[in-house]
Amino acid sequence: MLGDRTFGNFSLREPEHLAPETQLSLEKAFRAAQEFAERPKGWLMILGGYGTGKTHLAAAIGNYRKGMGDDPIFAVVPDLLDHLRATFSPSSNASYDEMFNRVRSAPLLILDDLGTQSATPWAREKLYQIFNERYNARLPTVITTSGSLEELDARIRSRMMDNRLCSIYAIIAPGYRATAKPERTRRSGK
Ligand SMILES: Nc1ncnc2c1ncn2[C@@H]1O[C@H](COP(=O)(O)OP(=O)(O)OP(=O)(O)O)[C@@H](O)[C@H]1O
Ligand SMILES: [Mg+2]
Repeated sequence: MLGDRTFGNFSLREPEHLAPETQLSLEKAFRAAQEFAERPKGWLMILGGYGTGKTHLAAAIGNYRKGMGDDPIFAVVPDLLDHLRATFSPSSNASYDEMFNRVRSAPLLILDDLGTQSATPWAREKLYQIFNERYNARLPTVITTSGSLEELDARIRSRMMDNRLCSIYAIIAPGYRATAKPERTRRSGK
């Protein structure tokens, strides 16, 4: 579904004449995503409001690496947790273990939409295990969230705050969907 999100069709939104610091936040996140895609290393975290292009950039990284022959895992966090929960059985279910271990140790993992909503203690524990393993093994990981760092699980947050491993970029632009619409209407009206 996200196969068409690339760096090539990511706009730096110059026509919108965003405020300079807003523009810069977008450009910095874009450049960081491109650099990460060229050479995945450490963790890249992209913060920002709804529709600001976080998923687009994360998918662009995944698509770029796929094009290079890698096999990145792209997971939407709430879906991932649902899936893990659904396949979990106390009698050590093999498919659960397999899925969980694959995500936990993937050479490149993209976690889209990390949030705090409905994070049950069980889900929080699973997420923590994923992040902890990837932190200890320094495994390349991309994380997007529309929340703030303060809202995240403290154990996960402390790992993200380790700037030897994790680079954090916040896109402070308004949502692209909202701002792009008048443009499109105007153009099609010609
Ligand atoms: N700078 C951009 N250039 C081109 N398309 C963009 C840009 N920003 C966003 N879009 C497009 O707008 C839509 C919303 O963007 P996206 O899904 O990446 O937002 P998001 O930051 O992940 O939002 P949410 O927090 O709601 O998940 C997508 O179709 C995306 O391709
Ligand atoms: Mg998104």
